[in-house]
Amino acid sequence: MTRRAVARGIGHYLPERIVPNSEFEASLDTSDEWIKTRSGIEQRHFAAEDESTSDLATKAARAALDHAGLSPDDIDGIIIATSTPDLTFPSVGTMVQSKLGMTHGFAFDVQAVCAGFIYALSTANALIVAGQAERLLVIGAETFSRILDWQDRSTCVLFGDGAGALVLEAATGDGTNADRGILATDLQSDGRYRDMLYVDGGVGTTGTSGKLRMQGNLLFRQAVEKLSQTADTALAKVGLASTDVDWIVPHQANIRIIAGTARKMNVPMDRVILTVQDHGNTSAASIPLALSVGVRDGRIKPGDLILSEAIGGGLAWGAVALRW
Ligand code: UT7
Repeated sequence: MTRRAVARGIGHYLPERIVPNSEFEASLDTSDEWIKTRSGIEQRHFAAEDESTSDLATKAARAALDHAGLSPDDIDGIIIATSTPDLTFPSVGTMVQSKLGMTHGFAFDVQAVCAGFIYALSTANALIVAGQAERLLVIGAETFSRILDWQDRSTCVLFGDGAGALVLEAATGDGTNADRGILATDLQSDGRYRDMLYVDGGVGTTGTSGKLRMQGNLLFRQAVEKLSQTADTALAKVGLASTDVDWIVPHQANIRIIAGTARKMNVPMDRVILTVQDHGNTSAASIPLALSVGVRDGRIKPGDLILSEAIGGGLAWGAVALRW
């Protein structure tokens, strides 16, 4: 018998305000055509002025709990992947804990930028498998609109706000790769690539939160290679190959990166959950958002093998193989 962290419920929340590409044409030398062909993005959601990351995360958490048929009382802890916290501290996790009315358990944040949800899932899996928790809420939530430079057309058109949440619970499997739950994870990072994607401020330097800076084309060249390699590594750990995958649920940064990675993995595009056109790049929120869309529209079914992969600032990247 093997202890596994199994998906019990999924949900998401997107802020009301939808911004189509055409809205940027008034203030920037850009076009709907350029944004669509270079990135696949058609629109994104932006949070209202009085809406913060913890608000988005709380709404996604409630949706996931409803989907699971559970209440906050049933949850032992909350792990939030975010790079856009409400405050430098306390964690968004503890803010969500209080907004859900939870006075028990624990909560903390994980920061691995766009790979954050992969890192949070891997952490949650380790806690459950080690017996430290029975049920965890794992959330990716971001308000990247707060760190965008609206004069920089090479970055501000690419990102959006949103949150997705997954309820994981302990279950017993027979130890094979046919078990439901998280089967394998692979985490990697290399700090030498820092300047490819970073924020130019922080408490320890400028005393400001800073704005996002990205050398997009350099990062693009790293992405497909590193993503397909980490996906293969995760699958190989449990004797699986990319041909076994039912659904790739990738980080949604760029349709060309998603398609290039799927091609390298020999997985056809009709086996990839795509939300980049509707949500833009929501950093750590993009994988749970896509997972929620795919489960709720009925494409992802119990027993399906899901492979999620992501890369972002750090650089940090990784993959999770999960049987739904
Ligand atoms: O989630 C974290 C991970 N992030 C990523 O993985 C993002 C990775 N990178 C990318 O997705 C792509 O590199 C971008 C979408 C950011 C850019 O696409 P690209 O095909 O790599 O374009 P580029 O950066 O090489 O720029 C091509 C041209 C440049 O003009 P010149 O130098 O050729 O005259 C840019 O100045 O496009 C120009 N450009 C724009 N033109 C119109 C850059 N941004 C825009 C814009 N509208 N918004």
